[in-house]
Amino acid sequence: MSIGVFDSGVGGLTVHRRLVDRFAKADFIYLADQANAPYGGRSGEEIVELTKAGCVRLFEAGCDLVVLACNTAASVALRRLQQTWLPGYRRELGRPVNVLGIVVPTIEAATGLPWEHEAERRGDKVEKLDILGVFSTPATAASRVYEIEIDKRRQDVAVFSEPCPELARMIEAGAPRDELAAVIEGHVKALARRIGRHPDRAILGCTHYEITADLFQAALPAGTPLIRQPDATADALARYLERHPEFDAGTGAVRRFLTTGRPGAQHSLVETFWGGPLSFEPA
Ligand code: DGL
Repeated sequence: MSIGVFDSGVGGLTVHRRLVDRFAKADFIYLADQANAPYGGRSGEEIVELTKAGCVRLFEAGCDLVVLACNTAASVALRRLQQTWLPGYRRELGRPVNVLGIVVPTIEAATGLPWEHEAERRGDKVEKLDILGVFSTPATAASRVYEIEIDKRRQDVAVFSEPCPELARMIEAGAPRDELAAVIEGHVKALARRIGRHPDRAILGCTHYEITADLFQAALPAGTPLIRQPDATADALARYLERHPEFDAGTGAVRRFLTTGRPGAQHSLVETFWGGPLSFEPA
């Protein structure tokens, strides 16, 4: 089988790159839903339907396991799909398929705790010493998934989200670096104003932003640690495959790239980041 990697666009390639590096022999099919990107300003219902359609396309292409390399899809749609759609769909297909997200591995990396861990709620007041900033799409910020799930596990960490409504679209379109840098600086400053200081650590909570991680790093105070979603997701997938031998990741080193948008090459911002030419087939 192949492992499917799904995003609204090119952002998930940041995760895909790390997965390919880590699982060199495994077979991968990447799907970018570029006809419908960006997802970040869409309604919850639309995000659920588009994510489901993307997963179906990847299962039909021969994947048994799909990684949602998209915070917006994972935070808005994943739980709904796992609860209301996947069990019936598995029965229909007659084979074990599953969808994994990117938010759980990120929260594990941010808290230093396994997902199963929930903090013991004690009555005493805990000082929030560790301020964690999350830059994300409006839909991910509105889901409050990072605030809620981190607060359950680490009472000493305070999470502040900064929605960046225009950024994924700009990266998707290959905007010039100076324009991206100005928008990123604006969001870093806006977050610092809201908190009263800069965060101690930050999550780039949209996979598109990883392509401009150096610009975030430059806009944040020197040395601010960034929690890296590609690393966290690759670690989580390795653990998952070990626990679930029924999912065989293949050995043919297949690399297919599908898009619902315009097939062919991606822009240079993406290819530079990827480290070579990329050619997308129609989905
Ligand atoms: N790359 C996606 C994410 O991680 C989606 C961006 C978008 O389509 O708005 O949230």
